[in-house]
Formats: sequence, structure tokens, C-alpha cells
Amino acid sequence: MKKAKILFNNIKALRNYHQHRIELNNPPSFIWLEPTNHCNLKCIMCPNGTDMVNVQKGRMEYELYKNIIDEIKDYASSITLAIGGESMMHSEFFDMIKYASSNGIKVLLNTNATLLNREKADLLLESGVSSVSFAFDGFNKEMYEKARVGSNFDKTLENILYFLELKKKKMLKLPYTVLSILMLEIGNYTEEEKCSFLKRFNNLIDEVRLREVSTWGNTFKDTDEFSFRKHNGFFAPCSRIWSTTCIMWNGDVVPCIYNANHEYVLGNIKDNGLLDIWNNQKIVQLRKSMLEGTYLDISPLCENCIVLGTPTMLGIPSGIRLTLTDAVTNIIGYNFEKFALYFANKLKRGKFSSVTLN
Ligand SMILES: C[S@@+](CC[C@H](N)C(=O)[O-])C[C@H]1O[C@@H](n2cnc3c(N)ncnc32)[C@H](O)[C@@H]1O
Repeated sequence: MKKAKILFNNIKALRNYHQHRIELNNPPSFIWLEPTNHCNLKCIMCPNGTDMVNVQKGRMEYELYKNIIDEIKDYASSITLAIGGESMMHSEFFDMIKYASSNGIKVLLNTNATLLNREKADLLLESGVSSVSFAFDGFNKEMYEKARVGSNFDKTLENILYFLELKKKKMLKLPYTVLSILMLEIGNYTEEEKCSFLKRFNNLIDEVRLREVSTWGNTFKDTDEFSFRKHNGFFAPCSRIWSTTCIMWNGDVVPCIYNANHEYVLGNIKDNGLLDIWNNQKIVQLRKSMLEGTYLDISPLCENCIVLGTPTMLGIPSGIRLTLTDAVTNIIGYNFEKFALYFANKLKRGKFSSVTLN
């Protein structure tokens, strides 16, 4: 019943977007939640790793986390446990996953896997997590360690492979596993190296995704090393703010994950309910400006965003595609997600930020 309701709410989000409604009768269904903004690496493409984060560092109180889950459990399809930091650094990380999944919310995880030792691999597999994306940006040691400063190629690869082997041994269908590789142009690799690296994941990983490196909104706007879209001639209002939201470690609610410095705070969940924040004046104003193309007056952060420049497909803009796919996945399983991404790339009418390899 809840799954059908979530799907219906996503259809409402799409209708609201096309009808230019800015006060929404659909709740957010895809929620990013930040257990902590502390990280153990200094990645060259991340605001956190490059000391561009000026907000206080901290971790979400477990009581606050539980209150959030209790509040959103009737309408949230999934929470993605990671925004700016490494979530495995949170001491109650596994309890967090269990609490959300036992309340009927899918938990999706992005991790650098550096802390995923054997004990944690077992705990993670038993936690109820639905999907794990391993961020591993490089086909060889040189590339990887240049990007993921502070990490060790062999050790982290061993962590990931051990986890995947254990999942196979336990004959578990979930979590759905993704090897996420950012296409940073640093260092060289041969085709042979790439193939032998990827071969190690054969029959172990569900999906290998090559991803575009973004300028994290306008955070890295002064570099030309990362991707951004020039919006001349093409513009699709960001539909993420019609169906997703983000809750930072201190309870600040922001419109999107690129608010690493909590640039545009809509409210704080300790003071207001999420559904009140979802339709408050600040977000309504942002939606309006998005439709009118005046969003830079409200949030300069959107300036270089790759989401704005990602094409609409079959009338479905990229933000709602993400949440709609997530809602359909609830009903027919994870293979749909892979199929949807594959299909999107086949129909390619512009630039997409992810390509699935297998
Ligand atoms: C900021 S990280 C935090 C999670 C985890 N600590 C990690 O290292 O992956 C969340 C996701 O953002 C991705 N990411 C980091 N910098 C990026 C950039 N400039 N463009 C696109 N994705 C980026 C990572 O690959 C990861 O999948």
C-alpha cells in the first residue's frame, strides 16, 4: 500500500512540475540525510576534501535521527545516508540503517569503503541496507590515490571485494551494489589495465557506473577541470525540488546536496516539521524562480549545476526521473534501476551524468 502511495506521489510531483505548481500536494519521497560531515579523506573533487566547507563539523544526534525517521516513515521511499562526509565514521551508523529499514524506508549508502573492515562488512550485510554505492575513482593505484587522498588502493579494493564475496557466499540479493567511478582526468591508464581492474568485479557487482565529475553547484566554478553545463539554449527547471530534499547533520534542511556550506537553509527540522518546511516561503520562492529562470538571484549555487542541464526524457525531468525510478524499484526490484539508466543513455538526446557499463 505504501509503495503504491509513493508511486502516486511521484506522479503528482511530475504533474505539479509540469503545471508549474510551487506549493505541492506531494511530500518529498527521496531524502538525503547526513549522519556526519566529517570525512577521513581529502578528495580533490569534493568541497569537504578541499577545505571549502566552512560550516561547523559534527554528527547527527541519534535521538534527532530517530525523530526524523518517525516523522517521515509514512511517505519516504528512501533515505540516502551520506551527503558531505563519510557516514561510517558515525558510531551509531549501523543502528541508523536498522532503524530506518525496520520502519519501511529503503536505505541507500554512498561510501568510500576505507573503513569497511571484515567485521563491518558483516554488520553492513545484516543491517537491512538496500543499496551500497562504492566510490572508487580510478582503474589503477596512481589514479585512485591521486583523487582519493589519504586512501590506499589495495586496502580499499580488498575491503570492497571482501564485502562482495561475503554477500555472494551468504547468497543475499540485497544490497544492490554499485561501483561508482568518477571520470576524473588525472593520470593514465591502459585499456588492458581498465579491463583487468573491472574483471575483478565480474559476477560480484550488480552495476558499474561511470560518472561525470561536477563542479558541485558553483563550488568549483573557477576550475575548468570538472563538468558544468552552459545553459544557453537549453534549460529544464531543477525538478529535484519537486520531489527530494536534504537534511544535514545539525537538522538544517536544504534544497539539494550541493549546499555543502548550508548556503540556502529552508529551516531546521528541530524547529519545524519537514512537511511544513517543504512548502514554506523559502522553498516556494526557489521553485518559482526556477520556473522563471531567475534562480541565480536566489541561489548562486545553481549556476554551474549539471542537474539543470540534464535533458528531460519522455517528459520526465532528471530529478523526478531519479525519484520515480526509486518508486518503481520499490515495486519491481533493482534491475529496473539499471534498465532505466541504460535506456536513458540509449535514448540520449544530450548529456547524461551517469553511464552504466555492465
Ligand atoms: C561527497 S561523497 C560522500 C560519501 C563518501 N564519503 C565518499 O567518499 O564517497 C558522496 C558522493 O559524491 C561523489 N562526488 C564527490 N565529488 C564529486 C564531484 N565533484 N562530482 C560528482 N560527484 C562527486 C562521490 O563519488 C560520492 O559518490
